[in-house]
Amino acid sequence: MAPELSETVHGDAVPDSLVVVSNREPYSHERGDGGEIRVQSAAGGLTSALDPVMQSQGGTWVAWGSGDADMAVADEGIVRVPPSDPAYDLKRVPLSEAAVQGYYYGYANQVLWPLCHEDTGRMWAEPTYWEQYRAVNEQFAEAVDTVADPGQPVWFQDYHLALAPRLVRERRPAATLLQFWHIPWPAPSVFQHCPHSDALLDGLLACDVIGFHTAGYAEQFLHCVDNAFSAATVDTDAGTVTRNDELTRVVANPLGIDVEGVRDRARTADVGSVRDTVLGGSRSDTSVRLALGVERLDYSKGIPERIEALAHLWDRRPDLRGEFTYVQKASRTREGIAAYRRYRTDVMEAVERVNDRFGTDDWQPIVYTEATLDNETLAGLYRAAEVALVTPHRDGMNLVAHEYPVACVDGDGALVLSELAGAATHLDGALTINPHDIEAIADAIERALELDEADASDRLSRLQHSVEALDSAQWVARQFSAGQSP
Ligand code: F6P
Repeated sequence: MAPELSETVHGDAVPDSLVVVSNREPYSHERGDGGEIRVQSAAGGLTSALDPVMQSQGGTWVAWGSGDADMAVADEGIVRVPPSDPAYDLKRVPLSEAAVQGYYYGYANQVLWPLCHEDTGRMWAEPTYWEQYRAVNEQFAEAVDTVADPGQPVWFQDYHLALAPRLVRERRPAATLLQFWHIPWPAPSVFQHCPHSDALLDGLLACDVIGFHTAGYAEQFLHCVDNAFSAATVDTDAGTVTRNDELTRVVANPLGIDVEGVRDRARTADVGSVRDTVLGGSRSDTSVRLALGVERLDYSKGIPERIEALAHLWDRRPDLRGEFTYVQKASRTREGIAAYRRYRTDVMEAVERVNDRFGTDDWQPIVYTEATLDNETLAGLYRAAEVALVTPHRDGMNLVAHEYPVACVDGDGALVLSELAGAATHLDGALTINPHDIEAIADAIERALELDEADASDRLSRLQHSVEALDSAQWVARQFSAGQSP
């Protein structure tokens, strides 16, 4: 089993100034209808975890400039962020429309995303997707060259950039290169569905360190390498690959959150007004209890099963009607792909069906919102909710499962968590379920609403402790210190 890194942190391993490279940028500049330029923060675990790290560490973040006003506000593609209190450089990589279609909507999200989430029926690999994926990885490698000093380590993020490490290595044979893979790594029997499996592995193996959220993903990666390259020496206990005189360490390094940041925001949140804003027309007095789900509208998130489970529960327990409202905070995502557009429609129709069936004049069972919530409002919403439902079919980690318990500063709150999310490997105290088992999800919601005080408080404090142990600052230190291991 590939090693967990908790024992091997070298405090001084993190460079003073970081160079990180990801597809998604933390801040985009968008032009409004009246021509005014607005700044928008990205939704998703990677950006919310890395932004506080970059703010405290400083350096350069290289990412796709996806906003329509991004280049207008940048100087040679570089803008200081966060705009309200600049702390680091964001270097934007401009992508053509064809590149976005082929690389982002194509290869990254119609080949690698379903592959790694072990949903191969959704894979679609047009030849242009691979060509664009390679070309964009080359573009990122060139951008790295313009911002990173020769000896500076470069840290790649996620599945969009599997080839860029090799391309940078060709330019910089002695550089320290790292990669963190934010989504699951599939079993070898699934990975073999990929038409470009060897090229992807070769790209990644140019790194000195590759990190995954769990030891299980790291081990599956090592098995895939072993199957692909007979000339490679793979040591699964040590978590190393030696191939063509290159040594790569493969480590389990679970990503966490900025614990203090989330806790502070929850403490200062105006919970009453968050409730009123989110519940809107629905009954918003304090007597209605809240359950909450927060996610991008991604087909891996298990939202329809969750809604079906809620319907199941309200059906078999009429006394719970009017008792609690489920708030679904959803973010639109990847809508250039038909499967995502269909998923959004399916979710919205399911919400409507349940509301039509169980709703009354003064109670709306499900409140669905796509409103953009700032981090303060989100922390208030977490705090207002007695139960959080995180029920993905598969998820690399899932940081909502980390944020929610930390935001429960009043000492109450229960988490229903899919056993197939990476978070289930690391968090103790959740009510875990199989995300396809509708009856079990309904049972877990029911149980969460009825936990006795001692059990609830014990579970919450175990959750909080396990989240604290994975603080995002530690994650960075662990990743860099893996490069210094003997
Ligand atoms: O969770 C995987 C991930 O790629 C994150 O790394 C990212 O923040 C999130 O999905 C959002 O996806 P996208 O960048 O496609 O909007």
